[in-house]
Amino acid sequence: MNTLQKPDVRPANPNFSSGPCSKRPGWSPDVLANAFLGRSHRHATGKKLLAEVIERTRDVLGIPADYHIGIVPASDTGAIEMALWSVLGPRGVEVLSWESFGSQWAVDVQKQLKLDDIKLTNAEYGEIPDLSKVDFSRDVIFTWNGTTGGVKVPDGDWIPADREGLTIVDGTSAVFAMDIPWDKVDICTWSWQKAMGGEAAHGMLVLSPRAVERIESYDPPWPMPKVFRLKKKDKLNEDVFKGLTINTPSMLCVEDAIDGLKWAEGLGGLKALLGRVQANFKALSTWVEGAEWIDFICKDPAARSDTSVVLVVTDPWFTAMDEDAQRGFIKKLTGLLDDEGTAFDVGSHRDAPPGLRIWCGATVETSDLEALGPWLDWAFHTVKAQMQEA
Ligand SMILES: Cc1ncc(COP(=O)(O)O)c(C=O)c1O
Repeated sequence: MNTLQKPDVRPANPNFSSGPCSKRPGWSPDVLANAFLGRSHRHATGKKLLAEVIERTRDVLGIPADYHIGIVPASDTGAIEMALWSVLGPRGVEVLSWESFGSQWAVDVQKQLKLDDIKLTNAEYGEIPDLSKVDFSRDVIFTWNGTTGGVKVPDGDWIPADREGLTIVDGTSAVFAMDIPWDKVDICTWSWQKAMGGEAAHGMLVLSPRAVERIESYDPPWPMPKVFRLKKKDKLNEDVFKGLTINTPSMLCVEDAIDGLKWAEGLGGLKALLGRVQANFKALSTWVEGAEWIDFICKDPAARSDTSVVLVVTDPWFTAMDEDAQRGFIKKLTGLLDDEGTAFDVGSHRDAPPGLRIWCGATVETSDLEALGPWLDWAFHTVKAQMQEA
């Protein structure tokens, strides 16, 4: 094929962003027609809808009955900050990071909470720290799937069942797309805007019985803003986990979240979602393996993310350029795809090495990923030819 000739087939849906992620297939604003709007979320109907999100989430994800699930303000960032501020302090902390979000939680622990017993365990983009060395006498904070680095933890086998510390997991781009062994997770957070293609602004917070016990037995020395407060009279504020949110939620987003959960149930639940992710990842991988100019940033297949797939350009002409020129190239390439309407938001994260990042979560159609590959080839060769001529 002449790589400078535009491919015939376009992705029907060009939304490959790693967050907010594509809406589910078949979504339209009509699904929001019956949203509970202009009414109090404290009315019985509002409460019922919020509780419905919680219970459908529990069912689809298989979260144990003795775990608490809450809807909290400020998306995943709010949920994880609330967790860190509520539980950290009584024991040492280990923060694992291998990309931008994990590094942010490390900054929090060091510079905001100013804890004095912190172990920071980092790896470069594309790699994962040695998980066999993690110290579980500490509270361990990590990102299940590093959205900006294309690297995930392979499974939960490295987490002991009899750990002393808590595991605090940012699960944003993993939940609904990867198998999470809930018995290995004490706290998990995510936002609706990710794997289910929901709307931003609300976070989910899951607490194991051990996490609840920590919250009830410990009062942090720092002030707690109202939006972080999970306690009422020395006990967990159970209201938050029944749908009585700390502050006012968007019932439009709630309606949309319920739509996403019903879609997942209709497909066959979590197993079907994971099946779609695997099919998507396989389609993209087949193209990557056949393309001579690009490769996965993560060389270890077990740790390679199957949702936020991060790719680096290996073409020698490209790698010979300095980083600014590489970023300029990627900007042109993604701009061209944007202008063509064939792929939106596929540049890698600003903190990651210059390259591409393509979301393969369940709301994306496999046929769209199959159609995407030839467009990436075309855009790469077109921009390269333009730059070489200039
Ligand atoms: C792993 C991870 N953590 C946290 C966030 C922040 O999520 P939000 O902006 O919804 O708070 C993201 C968003 O992309 C993410 O991928």
